Amino acid sequence: MAMRNNIEGKVVVITGASSGLGEAAARLLSAEGAIVVLGARRADRIQALAGELTKRGGKAAAIVTDVTQCDQVQKLVDAAVQAYGRIDVIINNAGLMPQSLLESLKIDEWDRMIDVNIKGVLYGIAAALPYMQRQKAGHIINVSSVAGHKVGPGSSVYAATKYAVRALSEGLRQEVKPYNIRTTVISPGAVATELPNTITDAPVGERIKNFYADVAIPADSFARAVVFAMSQPDDVDVNEILFRPTRQEI
Ligand SMILES: NC(=O)c1ccc[n+]([C@@H]2O[C@H](COP(=O)([O-])OP(=O)(O)OC[C@H]3O[C@@H](n4cnc5c(N)ncnc54)[C@H](OP(=O)(O)O)[C@@H]3O)[C@@H](O)[C@H]2O)c1
Repeated sequence: MAMRNNIEGKVVVITGASSGLGEAAARLLSAEGAIVVLGARRADRIQALAGELTKRGGKAAAIVTDVTQCDQVQKLVDAAVQAYGRIDVIINNAGLMPQSLLESLKIDEWDRMIDVNIKGVLYGIAAALPYMQRQKAGHIINVSSVAGHKVGPGSSVYAATKYAVRALSEGLRQEVKPYNIRTTVISPGAVATELPNTITDAPVGERIKNFYADVAIPADSFARAVVFAMSQPDDVDVNEILFRPTRQEI
């Protein structure tokens, strides 16, 4: 398939497309000519975004999806294939970051992060991989974090989920060699999104919100990293991208 920038005409499924990094990726990829299929729980947000991108001449669809439900992720990917004939890229981006000290025993939040940040990514892989194997082409992009490389107090469980994303992405990378599938892990530093709003621990939340107010960069930084990885020639597999605000130390 000859495509401008290796992006035009590609069918890209994005989870967590209702805000932040997912929304920014959807906007830039649509501007570059990709067909975007948006998944998230907030129907109003993804429908409005799909409507806006369509109005601008793009092709976009919105499918309400909770990534903790395997069958819903499967339906998201199936819908993309039914509507557009294939799936070229899945961006497993949905995630949350309710940081707290382990001693606070916010066990429901630990469960939630494991369900969304790890299992959600696995469900995305499970849904897309069989299609990509048959196509003998595809690209799986998983979102980790600087927290997938560094752990600090308050970030133990979040970091564990993001280390997990890197581990399973590396295993995936090696396993999909026979199928001509590319795999990319993107690990952002502080990017201005709604992510800190998921923190319920007041002191931790305040510290992180101040830190973000101080250093965070716009979500378009992530979108450009996605475009960089996708737009390489098919025989070039960009496996890892780690980026931070220039001002961010750790
Ligand atoms: N911002 C940063 O500094 C930063 C740094 C490193 C990594 N990341 C990672 O980037 C990813 C995106 O986060 P963001 O910064 O863009 O934050 P955000 O603005 O809060 O966006 C999170 C997205 O995830 C979706 N989501 C959450 N739970 C979901 C579920 N159960 N099912 C489906 N979608 C769900 C949300 O949609 P709904 O609520 O509508 O479902 C939303 O679209 C996350 O994996 C995060 O860990 C962010």
